[in-house]
Amino acid sequence: MVFITRRASFSAAHRLFNPEFTDEQNERIFDKCNNPNWHGHNYILEVTICGHPNPATGYLTDLKDLKKIINENIIEKVDHKNLNTEVDFLRGIIPTVENLAIMFWRQLEDKIPNGKLFKIKIYETENNFVEYFGEPVEIKIFDYQ
Ligand code: NI
Repeated sequence: MVFITRRASFSAAHRLFNPEFTDEQNERIFDKCNNPNWHGHNYILEVTICGHPNPATGYLTDLKDLKKIINENIIEKVDHKNLNTEVDFLRGIIPTVENLAIMFWRQLEDKIPNGKLFKIKIYETENNFVEYFGEPVEIKIFDYQ
């Protein structure tokens, strides 16, 4: 088994809050990321595929194809966007980096032509990142906008 990773980056705005919490609770729990007037992060996304290389090409998934799949299904939808209000597949979801990883997985899972999606890794800051390996996880979808 081999693992191959494509890295991409995007910049986006968000606000972390739970509409069922009070303003005080939101402020205490989400701190700076609760700023009502939004703020942005420069995210780095790494998508790892695993499998066996095609004997004829030596490729697992052609990285040109993987780049295109990531761009079309994620980057073009989130780059320079507001993650709370402008991204159809994130609607109603608290846009933490954990939830982004889970939702990005769901975007890509069935679109990998050769090999299998193995890991989604997202850096929200230089020191904070999340890794998700596709285990079933429940995400609450809130009815707000
Ligand atoms: Ni933030």
